[in-house]
Amino acid sequence: APYETLVVETRETVGLITLNRPKALNALNAALIRELGEALEAFEFDEVVGAVVITGAEKAFAAGADIREMADKSFADVYLADLGGAWRRVVGCRKPRIAAVSGYALGGGSELAQMCDLVFASPTAKFGQPEITLGIIPGFGGTQRLTRAVGKAKAMDLILTGRMMDAEEAERAGLVSRIVPAETLLDEALEAGAKIASFSRAAVLAAKEAVDVAAEVGLSEGVRFERRMFQAMFATDDQTEGMAAFVEKRKPAFKNR
Ligand code: HXC
Repeated sequence: APYETLVVETRETVGLITLNRPKALNALNAALIRELGEALEAFEFDEVVGAVVITGAEKAFAAGADIREMADKSFADVYLADLGGAWRRVVGCRKPRIAAVSGYALGGGSELAQMCDLVFASPTAKFGQPEITLGIIPGFGGTQRLTRAVGKAKAMDLILTGRMMDAEEAERAGLVSRIVPAETLLDEALEAGAKIASFSRAAVLAAKEAVDVAAEVGLSEGVRFERRMFQAMFATDDQTEGMAAFVEKRKPAFKNR
């Protein structure tokens, strides 16, 4: 297999990445983070793929960055290696990512879920930022993305105490999109991916880009960006087809043009 730490497959129009370091509860070592970037970039160039599902195992989505790998490192080591910087490749990918989370999503595992566009969680999911218990702080974006997702009150609680929250609390707080029974978690994530992949690719990418802009800019600038992207959709054949199909009471046949 080309990947050492992942199982990578395509299910029709959906890319499926399964984190595969079961003995370490899918701890995110440098190799895994690099391979995740590679796998997602490969799906970027695969025209058939319209969305990607990232999942783990029943017991753990991912129990965080690999503590054994980090334990003996100095500041110079992690600074020069830019520990955490490799995630740029993951978040730089434009196709929607769906996290399907069962069991532990801790530290970097929780942060990986936060880097996904939709988060589906089984009732067994447990999210947390236990970095504080190790004498460090979140380093894969948790202080920023978790705070944007759940607000300061809950983010401070989780990051300063290191406690875990269950799927119900995570959904209520705004980190989780849907709670799904464990047995159907992956199927529902793949189904959502297939649904997204069935729409106009340009509309999907533009919608994701516009929502992501909300985390970066003020309201009037964000609304202006949205309006321009919205208007740009009228340059696509898919807009013509989507609206014609509605008027003619038939299913649209999007061609990604
Ligand atoms: C390396 C890990 C690991 C991790 C688990 N393992 N988490 N190895 N890094 N993050 C390994 C254990 O050492 C053990 O290996 C095996 O996986 C099974 O784990 P157990 O602890 O035996 O399982 P259990 O008792 O069920 O407890 C599960 C757990 C616990 C609660 C999830 O493993 C745990 O607390 N893990 C660490 C969680 C954590 O602190 N994550 C944050 C990491 S820091 P052996 O060989 O003993 O069987 C982080 C920072 C991100 O993510 C930013 C950095 C830049």
